[in-house]
Amino acid sequence: MAKAKTTFFCQNCGAQFPKWTGKCTSCNQWNTIVEEVIQKEEKRQWDKPASPRKAAKALAIKDIEAGNEERLNTINQELNRVLGGGLVKGSVVLLGGEPGIGKSTLLLQIALGMNHRVLYVSGEESQSQIKMRASRIDQTNENCLVLTETKTQNIFSLITEIEPEVVIIDSVQTLHTETIEASPGSISQIRESAAELIKYAKETNTPVVLVGHITKEGAIAGPKILEHMVDVVLQFEGDRNHTYRILRAQKNRFGSTAELGIYEMQNNGLREVSNPSEILISDKDEGLTGIAISATLEGMRPLMIEVQALVSTAVYGTPQRSSTGFNIKRLNMLLAVLEKKAGFRLGAKDVFLNIAGGLKVEDPAIDLAVVCAVLSSTREEAIPQDVCFAAEMGLSGEIRAVSRIEQRIIEAEKLGFKKIILSKFNKIARTDFEIEIIRVSKIEQIVFQLFSD
Ligand code: TYD
Ligand code: MG
Repeated sequence: MAKAKTTFFCQNCGAQFPKWTGKCTSCNQWNTIVEEVIQKEEKRQWDKPASPRKAAKALAIKDIEAGNEERLNTINQELNRVLGGGLVKGSVVLLGGEPGIGKSTLLLQIALGMNHRVLYVSGEESQSQIKMRASRIDQTNENCLVLTETKTQNIFSLITEIEPEVVIIDSVQTLHTETIEASPGSISQIRESAAELIKYAKETNTPVVLVGHITKEGAIAGPKILEHMVDVVLQFEGDRNHTYRILRAQKNRFGSTAELGIYEMQNNGLREVSNPSEILISDKDEGLTGIAISATLEGMRPLMIEVQALVSTAVYGTPQRSSTGFNIKRLNMLLAVLEKKAGFRLGAKDVFLNIAGGLKVEDPAIDLAVVCAVLSSTREEAIPQDVCFAAEMGLSGEIRAVSRIEQRIIEAEKLGFKKIILSKFNKIARTDFEIEIIRVSKIEQIVFQLFSD
């Protein structure tokens, strides 16, 4: 195959160079020069012969027919939820995540579970390694074909032969296209290979799932433009020391980005966790201090989350504040409010906060549970196990209303909680709840409600 014509551009100032150099002589920036294709072979391998392209016409919005995207069922309910109902035909999904988090496992499971012809291309593992993984997760599927290949041209020639309904590429960083010379994993290789796959997906209406490695900072390795080019960006995350894994959508052209999927990594692959609240609350004895349960929402889904706090006398002059799963700045703010409004002298105390299960929570409704866990640990008094919380706290110690409160109450009731503490200002339409609803408007009232004096 003839080489495409390429040249080198500075990504900072756009200067053009005949060959690669470390420093751009035009803007004096280092490492900004990348190879780019300026002219390629026109014919694509999957092209059907002679289908003359119609010139696009501009239409008024009212004249455009709203077609429903056709979606393929992945059989995996958590993934379907995050994608917004299934894999849209012709869409390109990028799945990012730290090494060893379970990206390959998840995709192999999907490939083996789907009722469609899937091509699983791996550039990282041999066919026998993949076979070993498949036997570990104990699934087989006649429709799933496995290929170890990194050269896009070879992948495309196989694709034309077997015409898969879904293509999975593990990973985009291992791909290599002949049209440019840069080594696999470099910015220009990733961009070119991804561009070829995206073009293939759009032209043949086949969904493509790409695995993307992430850098030390947590961004998907390669050019940022990759995230702009694809339709859906998913992030697979979790604490490696915990078994729970969370799948989030960072971008989704066909659905909400608020949804999340929860999995548990087991010996035989990833198990879908369809009722997360039950596992996130740990079994424990009555009377432990520093624990409060919050009724939070992740996307459309209610989740009961356990907050654990430990407050102890500071050993050093500057007290330590540490938090896992909760924003440390927000913790500091809540502590300052407690100090000022509820008279707690936290200035000389170390405060450690942990969200059980290795989750990261952004729902502001967890504030009240954080505050109460801290109070409980400071006062060495346990909060009764059948009480939960759902409210945000403001800077002056006011307890603020949170969204979709009824959904939270229903979840708490379903899990057997007897009391839920929320803001006085939250409007609730339904009145037939069995759970006792306690409404408060200031932090001081909480102390009165929960603790003895
Ligand atoms: P993997 O899917 O290879 O991660 P990634 O592709 O994101 O790098 O995940 C592998 C990890 O998961 C590895 O540490 C072993 C573990 N694992 C299980 O615990 N159970 C299993 O059934 C499988 C297949 C893997
Ligand atoms: Mg992998």
